[in-house]
Amino acid sequence: MVGSLTSTTTLAASDEKGVMDPRNQAFEQDHPDQFHSWKATSESEQIEDALAGDPNMVILWAGYGFAKDYNKARGHYYALDDVRETLRTGAPMDENSGPMPMACWSCKSPDVARVIEERGEDGYFEGKWSRLGDQIANPIGCSDCHDTRSEGFKNGEPALALTRPYVERAMTAIGKPFEEQSRLDQQASVCGQCHVEYYFTGPTKAVKFPWDMGTGVDEMEQYYDALGFKDWTHKVSKAPMLKAQHPEYETWRDGIHGKNNVVCADCHMPKVTKEDGTVYTDHKIGNPFDRFEDTCANCHTQSKTQMIEIVSTRKSQVLNMKLTAEKQIVAAHFEAGAAWDAGATEAEMKDILQDIRHAQWRWDYAIASHGVHMHAPEVALEVLGTAVDRAADARTKLIRLLATKGVTEPVEIPDISTKEKAQAALGMDMETMNREKEHFLKTVVPEWDKAAREREAEY
Ligand code: HEC
Ligand code: HEC
Ligand code: HEC
Ligand code: HEC
Repeated sequence: MVGSLTSTTTLAASDEKGVMDPRNQAFEQDHPDQFHSWKATSESEQIEDALAGDPNMVILWAGYGFAKDYNKARGHYYALDDVRETLRTGAPMDENSGPMPMACWSCKSPDVARVIEERGEDGYFEGKWSRLGDQIANPIGCSDCHDTRSEGFKNGEPALALTRPYVERAMTAIGKPFEEQSRLDQQASVCGQCHVEYYFTGPTKAVKFPWDMGTGVDEMEQYYDALGFKDWTHKVSKAPMLKAQHPEYETWRDGIHGKNNVVCADCHMPKVTKEDGTVYTDHKIGNPFDRFEDTCANCHTQSKTQMIEIVSTRKSQVLNMKLTAEKQIVAAHFEAGAAWDAGATEAEMKDILQDIRHAQWRWDYAIASHGVHMHAPEVALEVLGTAVDRAADARTKLIRLLATKGVTEPVEIPDISTKEKAQAALGMDMETMNREKEHFLKTVVPEWDKAAREREAEY
């Protein structure tokens, strides 16, 4: 086992417990039901292009990776393929090329936990995303959520674990150290390792959750403002922007189920009884409506049709509000762009850009929380309402400012009716990006896979 470690990487933890095995199939023999249901997440294979579905988002993310390419989530089984294939990670031909940092692997693979254990957090985070491409080789799995080396796990107990030190620190920051959590809280926390808001910070661009003041939209906004943090500068409005990641854990906490301690696993990983009477946890994490009898029906008496009806009504309410907010924020970006063109000064623009930043952060917090229409629709609607409000503030100020610069006609918005047109309006060269990506996938990725296979052959 130790043969797989290079001489410089051996750490005390590995010595005591042996090397953490990141390979999911290594656990098939001991835990066939869990393994096979985990593997069935591969059945959720469809890729849905979110930008094609809503080209406004290309404009909202102008100047940032998400304007290049953004797909909706699919099965855990595909996490690694998808992070390699997205245009956001670019086409790095060597280990020092960008654009993204190592942190971008963090919620994709149990190899992340292994590398942090072997090399420490700095040893994992430093450098560009391509640096350890050959080390991150297995999609989200057993060793992301379990202490797979413990006796308990071997004997079929859950042995749930947080496998990233920065998650442990975040849970402690909100007064919920993992080892003091109830069994249900721990079940939610393992999902909260990845389904959360986070940002990259410090010299190594390490992952941190912005939870020091709390997990609500206002508290995280205050936290980022106090730091003067921005993810990027908007290409059109020049506003200092925040990108919300996917704060599912945070919005779930504030929803009716979270408040009643109904956790992610109650709906996404139900217990199922086999014909021989034994019970196991279904690891095919997907849409809980696919297993209505084992999920919602455990606690509710309504029919599946009624429940789907309720949830889809909420979904369309959230969608309507989302589009309302987008319309306002897109207009604010272009109006701010026009104000700069008309000679506005930094001082004149400061408050306006802050309004735009806050408006879009709020929009993103709500809509990047996938499933929010189910988990906490009232939170989504309220937060989107405040996004519209902040965008209206920006636009009121912009109209006045534009008038002082002699611009009294409405600012024209280019044709952004499709993803392609919106990207063209921003002058993005998609052809080159796609060509380079294809080359990277054909040349670099097979090398990574080959090196990983050789390394893992020694486990
Ligand atoms: C995304 C997190 C996650 C992943 C990935 C995951 N598990 Fe689990 N696992 C859980 C949760 C949550 C439970 C239920 C814990 C409880 O009942 O308290 C569980 C329970 C278990 C149990 C206890 C028995 C049971 O069925 O309840 C075993 C054994 C197990 N998992 C094995 C595996 C194996 C093997 C893999 C990889 C093929 C895996 N798990 C991947 C979260 C995960
Ligand atoms: C190690 C990080 C990680 C952990 C832990 C994790 N997830 Fe995920 N999850 C992801 C990523 C990344 C995706 C998107 C994968 C893709 O699209 O390639 C995802 C996708 C999903 C999806 C969409 C599946 C589909 O078929 O559309 C659901 C639902 C989900 N996760 C729920 C959960 C729940 C519930 C837990 C805890 C039991 C959990 N996840 C734990 C990272 C994680
Ligand atoms: C009360 C049940 C319930 C709980 C608790 C719950 N979810 Fe969900 N979740 C759902 C349902 C139902 C959907 C699908 C909604 C739909 O069909 O539109 C969903 C959707 C999702 C999605 C979006 C999947 C996609 O492909 O778009 C993710 C991700 C997700 N949930 C993660 C989580 C995480 C993480 C937690 C805990 C922090 C959690 N859920 C708690 C019921 C639940
Ligand atoms: C482990 C138990 C449990 C499971 C599983 C569960 N719920 Fe609930 N649900 C609750 C509790 C508790 C409440 C709060 C009841 C109250 O306050 O009266 C609730 C409330 C609700 C409400 C009404 C509150 C509101 O938002 O208006 C809806 C709708 C709902 N659940 C839908 C679902 C759906 C859909 C599923 C399956 C995807 C599901 N629930 C799974 C326990 C559960």
